[in-house]
Amino acid sequence: MDYGEMHFEEAPKIIVDPPGPKAKKLLEEQRNYESNAVLYPLSLPFVPYEAKGATVKDVDGNIYLDFFAGISVLNVGHSNPYVLKALSGQAEKLIHTLDFPTHARVKLARKLFEIAPGKLKGNCKVLFGGPTGSDAVEGAVKLVKHHTGRNLIVAFEGSYHGQTSMSLALSSTVKYKEEFVPLAPEAHFLPYAYCYRCAFNLSYPECGLYCAQNLERILNDPYSGLTKPAAVIIEPIQGEGGIIVPPEGYLQRIREICSENNVLLIVDEIQAGMGRTGKMFACEHWNVTPDIVTFAKAVGGIGLPLAGILFKRELDTWGPGSHVGTFRGNVAAMAAGLASIEFMEKNKVLSHVDKMGEKIIKRLNELSEETDKIGEVRGKGLMIGVEFVKERDSKEPDEETVKKIQLECFKRGLIVWKAGHFSNIIRFLPPLIVTEEQIERAMEIFCEVTLSHTTK
Ligand SMILES: Cc1ncc(COP(=O)(O)O)c(C=O)c1O
Repeated sequence: MDYGEMHFEEAPKIIVDPPGPKAKKLLEEQRNYESNAVLYPLSLPFVPYEAKGATVKDVDGNIYLDFFAGISVLNVGHSNPYVLKALSGQAEKLIHTLDFPTHARVKLARKLFEIAPGKLKGNCKVLFGGPTGSDAVEGAVKLVKHHTGRNLIVAFEGSYHGQTSMSLALSSTVKYKEEFVPLAPEAHFLPYAYCYRCAFNLSYPECGLYCAQNLERILNDPYSGLTKPAAVIIEPIQGEGGIIVPPEGYLQRIREICSENNVLLIVDEIQAGMGRTGKMFACEHWNVTPDIVTFAKAVGGIGLPLAGILFKRELDTWGPGSHVGTFRGNVAAMAAGLASIEFMEKNKVLSHVDKMGEKIIKRLNELSEETDKIGEVRGKGLMIGVEFVKERDSKEPDEETVKKIQLECFKRGLIVWKAGHFSNIIRFLPPLIVTEEQIERAMEIFCEVTLSHTTK
């Protein structure tokens, strides 16, 4: 399929310096009526109006390349026509049914059952809970607590799992939680395999994956201070933490340690799943079968809220009503979600992701030769991050430069986002149907802006 037809052809095209007059007016009104808790417009004064594929038009007529995709939600592109058709067909007939079965619901559950990672394929149950990723994490935690009769959950530094009490407790972002503690008490953090800033000051592969072994160490030390966990929750590639791709062997070792110690493994695929990394689920890169997978974001097709968990059939020991909500699976979102998976399958989107991802990484690696500001380029498929530092030797994080680069890229028609422990990573998460030409144009903008901030 020619993905080129799915976008605004002219992107990027800036006709008025953003924010233009219409954008300014709406931003001002938003500030007036909405809470101070609103966050994203503080980074970019962006007021979207209409979107197609990997491109978005703002209210003043500027057209941007969207390399953020609503945080990995719009994997098949804004307003993907195939998905839109399924969505509107369903919306005209039926939208809300709690968890009564509908054709769209059962077809999507069957599809997820068929595409589930590893040994979950054909051997799992699906739960649609509330519509957010945070709620999927809540559901996963309730399931492991119910099933094991234990309470402790082990999470990782750099993790992000959501904003509800339990999912926030398991998230490492201190600024989001410090005013609200105590949250759920039974959460314990271990260092993740962030090799660029190894918490143990070791290097891969000589380290022998000490960060994974560390899990085994605490599970087997009677003086670790920790009761036996119900589960370990892990992102296969950390998203908010800074697109941190663990080295070969890490996720497999975590899986083995969990199995050997009778601790369940929850793999949070909310950001990395649904084709983002070139596999339907990122854990498939390492042939790891989780006990539970959380999904949300892109599973709702073109931006409809839908979330849930996939888990081993034998874990389905809880009873009716164990994790419910009024919006436990919106039928229109389900029709859109199913159509988006079909679209990916029919149009070989995953192999396109691999090719486009390689192209971006290659260009970013070339860029890093030209500047001392880039500490590391990393990623899989179209989940890519660039870590900015004040200089390569010191590795001191450079949040200020990242802020400027993000804003300047935006002013030139490219939307990218920040991430990382120190907000010093630029994240590239374009829709998976991004074209080669769009990548070339985006890289041109990003490289020029980056080099304008560098002396080497
Ligand atoms: C890995 C991961 N888990 C959970 C969540 C929470 O999802 P939501 O924002 O839909 O509650 C996010 C959101 O960014 C995420 O990236």
